[in-house]
Amino acid sequence: MTTIAAVRDVVHAARSRGERIALVPTMGALHEGHLALVEAAHEHADVVVVSIFVNPMQFGPTEDLARYPRDLDADRARLAEAGVAAIFAPTAEEMYPTGAASPTVVTAGHLGTVLEGRSRRGHYDGVLTVVSKLLHIVAPDVACFGEKDAQQLFLVRRMVRDLDMPVEIVGVPTVRDADGLALSSRNRFLSGHDRRTALTLSRALEAAGASADRGVEAMIAAAQGVIQSDTGVQLDYLAVVDPATFAFVGEAHHGPVQVLVAARVGDVRLIDTATFAIP
Ligand code: PAF
Repeated sequence: MTTIAAVRDVVHAARSRGERIALVPTMGALHEGHLALVEAAHEHADVVVVSIFVNPMQFGPTEDLARYPRDLDADRARLAEAGVAAIFAPTAEEMYPTGAASPTVVTAGHLGTVLEGRSRRGHYDGVLTVVSKLLHIVAPDVACFGEKDAQQLFLVRRMVRDLDMPVEIVGVPTVRDADGLALSSRNRFLSGHDRRTALTLSRALEAAGASADRGVEAMIAAAQGVIQSDTGVQLDYLAVVDPATFAFVGEAHHGPVQVLVAARVGDVRLIDTATFAIP
């Protein structure tokens, strides 16, 4: 399906059969991480709609919109194997008939300007705008998002609460390769050497976790030590936040924390995250 009208027909028919709907929003180039979202969606609903849309609004002018991987045929085949019949793959014109600089925008506020949002200005406004459009188009009972982009998941949950959207947001744990690398559509751009270098991110998170019983500063120092040991990694940010508020935590903090890291390896920008508890 490429039109809003067609996806609404499918949803309407399912609703009239009394079925529950789940939405899995994606930008395509699907990997096992996306399939984990589909699996979670199947656990919550009878009909799973997967959207595939490389949203121009969430890419900055110097970002990789043109080179973002697109492989709709392969995506369709993977989704058919995963039992997904309803794929919504609209054009940019269908989603933004008046142009991608849409006059009506959902803003992420201050939290959209820190961490990932500091390096990618406007990114989360683009994400929230398209997610809000998809939620209005599909009107699902449940929508599934990966935990790897923890800031995105936090902002989507907050938007749904702030704007009274009647949908449950389900976070799905990050899927990793056997050596720990978090799956990402951009991993396909990592050369053999860069792929090994990229493991520094998950190793930094592990090091932070191993130091959690010594507090936040020890966690940051341990992670920084790992990152600095590999000159192939250009660190963008390393931060420890409270998962309940997404505020940076201080040394006195106890309880759950989320460690976030973003870095460039070669010309590929990667993010990763893990949650630990400070006793
Ligand atoms: O996480 C993504 O793939 C995208 O940000 C999303 C949620 C599909 C919105 O374009």
